[in-house]
Amino acid sequence: MLTYTFYGHACFLLDDGANKILVDPFLTGNPQASINEKDVQADYILVTHAHGDHVGDTPNIAVRTNATVIGIPEVTDFGGQRVKTIGMNLGGTVKTKFGFVRMVPALHSSGIAGGVACGYVIGVGGKVVYFAGDTSLFSGMKFIGERDKIDYAILPIGGHYTMDPVDAAKAVELLGAANAIPVHYNTWKVIKQNPEDFVKLVKGAKVHVVKPGQSIEL
Ligand code: NI
Ligand code: MN
Repeated sequence: MLTYTFYGHACFLLDDGANKILVDPFLTGNPQASINEKDVQADYILVTHAHGDHVGDTPNIAVRTNATVIGIPEVTDFGGQRVKTIGMNLGGTVKTKFGFVRMVPALHSSGIAGGVACGYVIGVGGKVVYFAGDTSLFSGMKFIGERDKIDYAILPIGGHYTMDPVDAAKAVELLGAANAIPVHYNTWKVIKQNPEDFVKLVKGAKVHVVKPGQSIEL
């Protein structure tokens, strides 16, 4: 059993019953946040890049929960705070207690000198979940889908800073994903979208529109 809980914007939790994998925990200052950073649980925290709406509350949560933070070293350097980290880089795979984490490219700025933005392919609970992070559409998504059969693709659809529904629907096609979940929209006016537009554009995959605070079984 694998549960996906959406905490708003691009923050979500994957829980296989034994491991809690928290991704891009931007909660403080997130108008969509459905949980407080002081209450969220994590065994692992995955960070895609250093923009505030992704790295968010990572250091505080990591110190409180003793979670292991996975990310690019420049991004997960929290200035001497006592945080357990696994530094990795694009193309790398690390084995974890729950399965594996593969770091894949994203086309986006990093938010910090020396870092780059990334996405993740996560093997957990017998499923493969791809989170694109913040990115534009790029042709390499085809190869991400060729290496691992993507069960769920979690994709930004807000536009302006990332893909919009049109490009995100093309991403689903390139990835060959069986299911898609839209994120990174309606947090602010600038990324306002109707997720039903994405639902209508996606062909050959099931789209799950999950509201902040909702959980679904993957
Ligand atoms: Ni960003
Ligand atoms: Mn963002």
